[in-house]
Amino acid sequence: MPPENLKGETSRGEKLYEGKAKTLYKGPVPGTIIQYFKDDATAFNAQKKGTITGKGIINNKMTELVMKNLEHIGIPTHFLERLSDREQLVRKVEIVPLEVIVRNIVAGTMAKRLGIEEGTPLERPLIEFSLKDDSLGDPLIAEEHILSLDLADEAELAEIFDMTRQINDFLRGMFAGVGINLVDFKLEYGRLYDDDGEGYCLILADEFSPDNCRLWDMVTNEKLDKDRFRRDLGGEVDAYREVARRLGISLETAD
Ligand code: TYD
Repeated sequence: MPPENLKGETSRGEKLYEGKAKTLYKGPVPGTIIQYFKDDATAFNAQKKGTITGKGIINNKMTELVMKNLEHIGIPTHFLERLSDREQLVRKVEIVPLEVIVRNIVAGTMAKRLGIEEGTPLERPLIEFSLKDDSLGDPLIAEEHILSLDLADEAELAEIFDMTRQINDFLRGMFAGVGINLVDFKLEYGRLYDDDGEGYCLILADEFSPDNCRLWDMVTNEKLDKDRFRRDLGGEVDAYREVARRLGISLETAD
């Protein structure tokens, strides 16, 4: 079935993959992909399902802002251009099968696993890794697992640490500027191959949105991220919109 051509959206190619919050389509030229951001929300490895109305538009536009800002500080990313409210054109990469998690303040599974109170600041930012495998529930793994299982080599791991630290420094400042504490977040990297398929470089891929980070208001500690959905706190639409508003992201739609 050909993809629907909704008002304000481009004609997408063949569907390549349907994820929990995004669908990927073939892009208009080889080596490109269109990421389509849905309103679907899942938590606890998709055991909890729902929708957050308008989330796809916010996540698309926030990812655009973050990727463009990171390019400005010299971080290479897969982002090419935003095509419509819910679509962006990105470079096709081979995803490194790791969820790279950065923590500035203890929350979520780390608080539970180690019995530390949520909200405890960390002495220095922590970078940890999960294996990207939904069927296993994205288990936490050590650097030694990554090297022994050849999920990435030493040079790649060093680059991942270096880029991730720079990204954290920048994004903490960006969010602090609008009164938000960046508590933790998840990144994914990809290998961008040369045309001859010989060499490659590592670039930032996937997305950056309140779906995969924790954002707390600096004054009230109010949660402005997917924890509102995960923990049945309500007000998730308003929270996502508030983050967009503070970052100066226009939510006027093209439709
Ligand atoms: P974490 O506390 O490990 O898990 P949970 O959110 O299930 O309590 O997550 C740390 C941050 O990384 C959090 O902002 C959510 C994000 N994250 C993802 O977006 N996807 C993932 O698969 C994982 C493991 C974390």
